[in-house]
Formats: sequence, C-alpha cells, structure tokens
Amino acid sequence: MLLNKKILVCVTGGIAVYKAVALVSKLTQAGAEVKVIMTDSAMEFVTPLSFQVMSRNDVYYDTFDEKDSSVVAHIDLADWADLVIVAPATANVIGKLAIGIADNMVTTTLLATTAEVWIAPAMNVHMYENKAVIRNIQQLHEDGYRFIEPAEGFLACGYVGKGRLEEPEKIVQLIMEKFSQVTDLPLAGKKVVVTAGPTRERIDPVRYISNFSSGKMGYSLAEAAVALGAETVLISGPVELPIPNGVQLINVESAAEMLEAVLSEFNNADVVIKSAAVADYRPKEQHSQKMKKQDGDSSIELERTTDILKTLGERKKEQILVGFAAETNDAIEYGMKKLSDKNLDYIIVNDVTDPDGGFGNDTNVVTLLSRKGKTYPFEAMHKKQLAKVLVKTILDLERDVPNDS
Ligand code: PMT
Repeated sequence: MLLNKKILVCVTGGIAVYKAVALVSKLTQAGAEVKVIMTDSAMEFVTPLSFQVMSRNDVYYDTFDEKDSSVVAHIDLADWADLVIVAPATANVIGKLAIGIADNMVTTTLLATTAEVWIAPAMNVHMYENKAVIRNIQQLHEDGYRFIEPAEGFLACGYVGKGRLEEPEKIVQLIMEKFSQVTDLPLAGKKVVVTAGPTRERIDPVRYISNFSSGKMGYSLAEAAVALGAETVLISGPVELPIPNGVQLINVESAAEMLEAVLSEFNNADVVIKSAAVADYRPKEQHSQKMKKQDGDSSIELERTTDILKTLGERKKEQILVGFAAETNDAIEYGMKKLSDKNLDYIIVNDVTDPDGGFGNDTNVVTLLSRKGKTYPFEAMHKKQLAKVLVKTILDLERDVPNDS
C-alpha cells in the first residue's frame, strides 16, 4: 500500500528507538522506500546496522560524512522524501526544531525539507508536561508540523502516564491513511477549517468572561474531517483535550484572536465549520492590573465582539459555511434566522438545555438546517459519532444540491 512512497525516518535518542526499528521494518514490508537518519544519542540505544538491515539502505548520522560526492547528503535526503517522520522525537529535538537549530544530521535535514514532517514524541510523562516542551510543541503546531500523540501506559522510566511512542502498527496505519487520501477519500484535496471551544475575554490579568464549551464537539468534527481526507485546520479556544492526529492546530484565546486566525485561513478554505462558542461581548476596558475590590456593588461595561461567522458570510465566495446555534428555546426558529442573517449554507442547532447535549457533555442532540430550509434531526449520540454523521450528511447534500429544495 505504500509502494513507491519515500519515507525518511529521523531517529532521536530515547529508549523507544527499538520501536523505530519495528516501524522501519513495517514500512518496508508495506512497500515504502525507507531511509534513516540517527542522532548520536539514538546510536547509544541501537546501532545503525539494525536500521540498515530493516531499510535495506545506508543509514545517515554524520553531517560531514558525504557518502556521494555528487550531492550534499542532508539536502539530498530532504528533497528525496515524500514524508519525514521523527520517531521517537525527544524533548531535545522538539526544542531544537521549534527555534530552528540545525546542529546535526537530523536537525539540518529537518530544516531543509519541504516535505510534510510528522513528529512522534516519546519521553517521561513529566517531561511531556513540562511548560517548555508544551510551548515548543505548540510552536511546531503553528509552524505546520503534524504530531502523532504519545500513548498512555507504563514508561521505561518507571512512571505510568502519557509519553510512550505510539505503536509502530498505528503509525504505519496513519501513514497509509495519509497516502490513500490523495485519491480515495471524499475530502481529499479539500481544506476544512473548524473552530472549537470557548473564547476568553479578559477583564484584568486574573479574571475573564467565558462559557462552558469543552471543545468536544469541535475537536470531534476536526477528527472527522481528517478521517475523510481533508487538510484540517483546527482553531481552538482554551480547552483540555488531546490534539487530534493529523490536524494543524492554532490556539487562540479571545474572540478577536479567533477572528484573526479564521480570516487568515478563510480564502483558501473549502469548508468552514464554526462550532466554537464565541463570546458576544467583551469588557470595554481590560485592566492591566488586578482590579481591587471595593465596598458595594460593581459593574463591568461590555462591548460587542465582531461576529466572526457573519463576517465570513459577507466575504464568502465558493466556501461552504457551517454555523452552530446554541439555543435554550425555539431552537429551530432561532437557528433558521441565524442561517439566513449570517448567509450560511448549513446551521447545526442544539438545544443546550437538553440533558443529552450541549456544553461539556460527551453526547449531543442536534438538528441540521440547510440553506434550502430543510431540517435534518439527529438522535442523541456521542459527539465523535455525531461529527462523522454531520460531515457525511453535509457532503451528501452538497453532491445532491438540486434535490435539496
Ligand atoms: O464544546 P462542547 O462542550 O462540546 O459544546 C458544544 C457546543 C454546545 C459549544 C456547540 O455544539 C455549539 O453549539 N457551538 C456554538 C455555540 C455558540 O456560540 O452559538 P451561538 O448561537 O451563540 O452562535 C452562533 C454561531 O455564530 C456559532 O457558529 C458561533 O461560532 C458564531 N459566532 C458567535 C459569536 C461571534 N462573535 N462570532 C461567531 O462566529
């Protein structure tokens, strides 16, 4: 299934290097041509010979050991690859890449490649939760790198937690899905932008106005778009959820930041799904110092935020625009009004007072409304399942537009 695909595996130093040997073996068995670069630390765990045997290619580890005088090895490898995988990726290589350091064969090649780079971290759970590592991963997400989240379980250091290199079988499956997207999947070649989670509107350095959105609905929609082959950008307010594999994540805090991020992705998007619960108001003034309490009552003056979805509706060309409506009464009526006022193609209406749906729950109960005034109600289901059904329904309706009247 990976016939003729050129995959460059960059191996950095951690105990999970032994799993990278299995990864290279499985990729070769699947028909890929695999080349391997190792760091010095990786070679402390496994010798290059193991990778040479599994890949049936020379292994690279010394930037200055030019095996072929007609090319510069790290540039040649960087240009050769269809896909680059860093597995296992240590906190060290993640940090170097985040600030553009090129000091060995792996990092020089990573900076030189224009191929897609996937990073599969493996490290101690506390290292993975370290603020600097989180910051560096965030930076790499914003720079367009894709992450294969580490799994949870027993770690070689004796801890139990998140930090195990994802299993080679799973990584190979993700690679196969990536390459099959090129031809087979319905959203292959399309760009889907999903917004998720709440926004936070700061009052002062320690207080903000927000809402109860957990991001579960939006993250599930982004996962569904990736599974159908879309290049998926997930623009997220502050949430506590793992980053779905294969998405490009852009973290934002306020409605103003979300507006800016959405507009920067809008022109070349094919579909935009706005499931974020964006604040309609923000404090007119943001205090730079903590507001002191005083005797008696106090009030905060609020001003309107920009309606992002309405702005998109005004600028829309070929994009399919999908909004959400969080309602507590007369949901369909209000949903229809939002669909028309914001010039949307579809709106997904949820009655957020329903015990099986709305903010924070794992399940949701929604009705999809189309621009032609049709309603498609769905029973309560898990948000992950619902997301797949919603994306598929919209795709089916789009293919069949003349009948949707
Ligand atoms: O995150 P979960 O816990 O899983 O919960 C999911 C959800 C309930 C948040 C989700 O299903 C949902 O309903 N999201 C939309 C919430 C919302 O803000 O609805 P609204 O009716 O206030 O806004 C209508 C639409 O306009 C939404 O698509 C919203 O993203 C958009 N909007 C709103 C205000 C604003 N300033 N800009 C916007 O783009």
